[in-house]
Amino acid sequence: MPEAKRIDGKAFAEGLVNRITRAVAELQARHGLKPGLAVVIVGEDPASQIYVRNKGERTEASGMRSDTHRLPAETSQDQLLDLIADLNADPGIHGILVQLPLPDHIDSSAVLGAIDPDKDVDGFHVVNAGRLAVGLPGLVPCTPLGSVMLLKDQMGDLTGLNAVIVGRSNIVGKPMAQLLLAESCTVTVAHSRTRDLPALTRTADILVAAVGRPEMIKGDWIKPGATVIDVGINRVPSADPEKAAQGKTRVVGDVAYAEAVAVAGAITPVPGGVGPMTIACLLMNTYTAACRSAG
Ligand code: GUN
Repeated sequence: MPEAKRIDGKAFAEGLVNRITRAVAELQARHGLKPGLAVVIVGEDPASQIYVRNKGERTEASGMRSDTHRLPAETSQDQLLDLIADLNADPGIHGILVQLPLPDHIDSSAVLGAIDPDKDVDGFHVVNAGRLAVGLPGLVPCTPLGSVMLLKDQMGDLTGLNAVIVGRSNIVGKPMAQLLLAESCTVTVAHSRTRDLPALTRTADILVAAVGRPEMIKGDWIKPGATVIDVGINRVPSADPEKAAQGKTRVVGDVAYAEAVAVAGAITPVPGGVGPMTIACLLMNTYTAACRSAG
């Protein structure tokens, strides 16, 4: 079997961001409307700080307004809810993203539930989860949305294909199942309690790995020729023992790539696969929310 095609999410995301950037310029020129995204971060988590800085830079680079609200770790839930109420009422802000995880003393679902669903560019509000489940227009979580865009670009019509999603999170697994069902796939959602997972994953024409466990999905769990979407972003010690001893790390997915590439028909690499699509879809959701706000 020839080696699997490497699905270049980075290139696809760059094309998408270019199209969004042009659409943003046109929206401003024709309607005087500049989409605005507010990102809220509470506390000092270093990985979250990097994500948030990146989101702000990419939002501005696409011509949109970007406001970042950095709050101290001691911020109370009420203070955070007050900020969200202000952002909900701000007509210059069309998208609101509260970076997760939040500190333990804050109830994340209360905070996410306080965001105006029409500004919920993460798509985490129960109203948007409900809209997705019944097929109404809403805002769709960015990672599954980007993953399905890659799948459709790669495979065309997905009708009738067997899709197995490993992972049942509200952020990826469940919305991914809804999106693939809407594409008329036969969808199975597997999780940590699934029996004989390798036998199940071997039935998948489309295999989505979203478990957060480094290289858990092995080559012989994959049906020959299947399309594999690896959502995992796991930091592990460097493969070089000397570098590992110095604390150097590398990023791997949930799929053992070197094995999988010999079996699959196509596969997203980590990094450079799904990751870049997530931020592109955040920009797309912000643009969509701004357009809808104008009616
Ligand atoms: N933390 C890690 N990923 C995400 C994401 O997609 N959205 C938010 N809000 N927080 C995150």
